[in-house]
Amino acid sequence: MSGGTTEAGRALAVRSVRHAVSRPTLTIVYLTRMSDGPVVPVLVVVASHETHALRGSVLRPGRPLAECAFEGDDAPDTVHFAVKISGEIVGIASLYGEPFPAASGRPGFRLRGMATSPAVRGSGHGKSLVRACLAHVARAGGGIFWCNARTTAAAFYESLGLVVSGPPFDLPGIGPHVRMLRDVPAFDLPRDP
Ligand SMILES: CC(C)(COP(=O)(O)OP(=O)(O)OC[C@H]1O[C@@H](n2cnc3c(N)ncnc32)[C@H](O)[C@@H]1OP(=O)(O)O)[C@@H](O)C(=O)NCCC(=O)NCCS
Repeated sequence: MSGGTTEAGRALAVRSVRHAVSRPTLTIVYLTRMSDGPVVPVLVVVASHETHALRGSVLRPGRPLAECAFEGDDAPDTVHFAVKISGEIVGIASLYGEPFPAASGRPGFRLRGMATSPAVRGSGHGKSLVRACLAHVARAGGGIFWCNARTTAAAFYESLGLVVSGPPFDLPGIGPHVRMLRDVPAFDLPRDP
C-alpha cells in the first residue's frame, strides 16, 4: 500500500508541507516517497528473457532482437543478475560456466551482457552487479572470473580487480575488446560445530 493512502502517509504529507517552508530539499524526498513509494534498488536473479530489453538498448542498439539472446543463456549453471528500481530493470550482468580460454584446469565463469541504463550510471549498480557475480563464483567453489571487455569499460573492470590478458582484438559490429580476468578463491565457509 502506498504511503499516500495510510495514516502514516497523511502524517508524512503534513510534515512535508511544514518542511516545504523551511527545508525544501527534504520536502522533495518526502513527496517522492509519497507518490511512488520508497525508491529502493534491489539486486535479484531474473530469467534470461528479462535481460533482453536492456541488452538491446545498451549493447546491441539498432540490431535485431534475436542478437540479444546469447548461447548458454538457459544453461543450468547460468545466472542472470539484475538491479531493479520500482520494478524496472536498470542493470544486468550474466554469468556462464565457461572455461577461461587459456586456463589450466581451474573452473571458468564468464561474464557477459554487462550493462546499466544510462539514467542510473555512476550510482554503483554496475559494481554491485559484478560483486554479485564474484560472490557467486566464490560460493560455487572459486575459479577464473573473466570477460571480453569493451576497451571503453576496461577501467571499470580494473577497479574491480580484473587484469588484462593478451592483446586487444576486434569483435565485428561491436568494437575493440580486451580479455580480462580475476582469480576468485572459494569462500571459506564456516563449519558446523
Ligand atoms: C560499464 C557500465 C556497466 C558501468 O556501470 P555503472 O552503473 O556506471 O557502474 P558504477 O556506477 O558501479 O561505476 C563504478 C565506478 O566505475 C566507474 N566507471 C563506470 N563506467 C566506467 C567506464 N566505462 N570506464 C571507466 N570507469 C567507469 C565509475 O565512474 C565509478 O567510479 P567510482 O567508483 O570511482 O565512483 C556502464 O557504463 C555501461 O552499461 N556501459 C555501456 C555498456 C558497456 O560498455 N558494458 C560493458 C561491456 S564489456
